[in-house]
Amino acid sequence: MAKPRVFITRVILEKGLGLIRDFCDMDLWIDGLPPPRQVLLERVRGVDGLLCLLTDPIDGEAMDAAGPQLKVISNHAVGFDNIAVAEATRRGIPVGNTPGILTDATADLTFALLMAAARRVVEAERFVRAGLWKTWSPALLLGADVAGATLGLVGFGRIGQAVAKRATGFGMRILYHDPSAGPLPGIPAERTDLETLLKESDFVSLHVPLNSGTRHLMNGRNFSLMKPTAILVNTARGQVVDPVALHAALKEKRIFAAALDVSDPEPLPMDSPLLELENLIILPHIGSASRTSRERMSLMAAENLIAGLKGERLPNCVNPEVYRV
Ligand code: GLV
Repeated sequence: MAKPRVFITRVILEKGLGLIRDFCDMDLWIDGLPPPRQVLLERVRGVDGLLCLLTDPIDGEAMDAAGPQLKVISNHAVGFDNIAVAEATRRGIPVGNTPGILTDATADLTFALLMAAARRVVEAERFVRAGLWKTWSPALLLGADVAGATLGLVGFGRIGQAVAKRATGFGMRILYHDPSAGPLPGIPAERTDLETLLKESDFVSLHVPLNSGTRHLMNGRNFSLMKPTAILVNTARGQVVDPVALHAALKEKRIFAAALDVSDPEPLPMDSPLLELENLIILPHIGSASRTSRERMSLMAAENLIAGLKGERLPNCVNPEVYRV
């Protein structure tokens, strides 16, 4: 019997890729960069399954280019803002994602960024390498305290809660804003409205998915509510922050610093004015980039893909309503 045909938009770790290779007739895009749009539209034609990355916009046009036999779209990410889920649902196509397995890795990186920005670690490293370190000095590179500070979590899902757990170890006061998440047993976190959170927090960390309600959530008005000593951390999605408002807030020192794993756009162009700022740390979207997390993501994405090809329910499906028709 012919194997199902799939298009994989990038080389993922071998754990997942091996599974796919065994079960499918696999067309693998081996370039280091995402397939250009036109190539994607051509390569999906006639496939039964598609495994894509957060860098691949999968809209109705891409689904139509694939054709009516397309049975499953598996995203190698927990976030799925790159996929027009409603369009997939309308066509009866289940969409898979990779929740849970990257929670700790992303929470760890969030804390790494929080601490690095507080204590100016990256700036201090640049200082040494530039030959500027002449002596120990009482007021050299003063930063912010983490212990005892107030942490405001915008979004209190899996990753926000995992960051809260880490923050308790630092004796932080924890506020969160999330209309849909309740308190977490054992974590003394206080639910607030967004305005109170922004006004009271020393660190504001973003953990919301990107959607029409969160796009540019951090805008000029919301930056103006933050303390001048506050630090913004973003390991969620770049577009949750308005980059122009962020630049103004950092440049005019209306906030102390920002530490980003994600940006708008990604990657930031090398002439972005954000890259000129000393009080900005920027990483290349590596929140889930621990070996174990990425192996598990490859496996979970492969399992979602294969389940969909077999006509089984995806182990992790973002649009389970496709099964209710
Ligand atoms: C990474 O950003 C993901 O959504 O998995």
